[in-house]
Amino acid sequence: MKILVTEKIADQGIEVLKKSGMEVDVKLDIERGELLEIIKNYDAIVVRSVTKIDEEFYQHAVNLKVVGRAGNGVDNIEMEGATERGIIVVNTPEANIVSAAEHTIGLLIASCRNIPQANNHIKNRQWDRSGFKGVELQGKTAGIVGLGRIGSLVATRLQGFGMKVIAYDPYITDERFKKFGVEKKENLQDLVKESDFISVHTPKTEETFGMIGDEEFKIAKKGVRVVNCARGGIIDEDALVKAMKENIVASAGIDVLVDEPNTTSPLLDLNNVIITPHLGADTVEAQNNVGVTIAHEVLSALKGEMVPNA
Ligand code: NAD
Ligand code: MLT
Repeated sequence: MKILVTEKIADQGIEVLKKSGMEVDVKLDIERGELLEIIKNYDAIVVRSVTKIDEEFYQHAVNLKVVGRAGNGVDNIEMEGATERGIIVVNTPEANIVSAAEHTIGLLIASCRNIPQANNHIKNRQWDRSGFKGVELQGKTAGIVGLGRIGSLVATRLQGFGMKVIAYDPYITDERFKKFGVEKKENLQDLVKESDFISVHTPKTEETFGMIGDEEFKIAKKGVRVVNCARGGIIDEDALVKAMKENIVASAGIDVLVDEPNTTSPLLDLNNVIITPHLGADTVEAQNNVGVTIAHEVLSALKGEMVPNA
């Protein structure tokens, strides 16, 4: 059997694949045209968030049996096309959640305290403390949209900073809100109105794409601070730029953009936006965990064994 890896996963993961005796080709940053041409030769593919597994891809992937998503979100994978063809899709939903939660906290604190801006300033050999006054987290209200794996980790960490945490998530039980000591909001509008900080942690779906947009910024507290370490566009990018220019949003911490890779987003021009190139899962621990887990899952699926995250 042949396995193609198109995005960087940990060396440990590649070793697991190779030790299985299967043929493994690692072709990072492969051009789309070449991918479509060669995919017929493979039984499995391992991707992260950049490779688009869509209908066009499936039409070329005539021998494909398994798609391994080395990570959490599967929004780059068209699931219906896989199901129709009996292709198994596996992912690693637990393997990087701590890293994503910690990156969220990092973005929040860094943006509230202007840490990257001040760092750039002093590295330009300037010493000026006047332009970087921030705000504290303690005593403020954090609104979490999506109290799932990562949202709940973020919630408990923010409680450690003395914040009141509220959340909107219509798909979970009241017990889950109670378990994490989080106040349930019945609708998004109430969460938006009450929050000093808003952090989104939903998957990217038709329902969540753009769910924080013009209407929400109209009712948000003036000076609200937002973080998106989930998926680009859950906070509408145009609406965010507008709300920042109107001083409704005081700062934004962004790890994900609608189009990635991206070096031209208007968000990059705003000084009070701090932005990282989709680094939420980029820690030693998360990548080792993701790489090894996805390797075992892909191999199990190819052998027809039970796979936990299929
Ligand atoms: P999860 O499935 O555990 O939790 C998502 C939660 O969102 C669920 O509780 C669900 O009920 C809720 N939800 C769904 N639709 C909603 C809606 N319309 N309104 C409110 N809540 C809604 O997912 P997770 O593992 O916590 O991942 C959260 C997000 O983080 C995903 O988008 C994932 O792709 C992303 N992620 C990003 C990185 C990164 O590198 N930046 C790393 C890992 C995960
Ligand atoms: C994920 O969904 O796991 C993240 O976006 C991380 C990644 O794939 O790089």
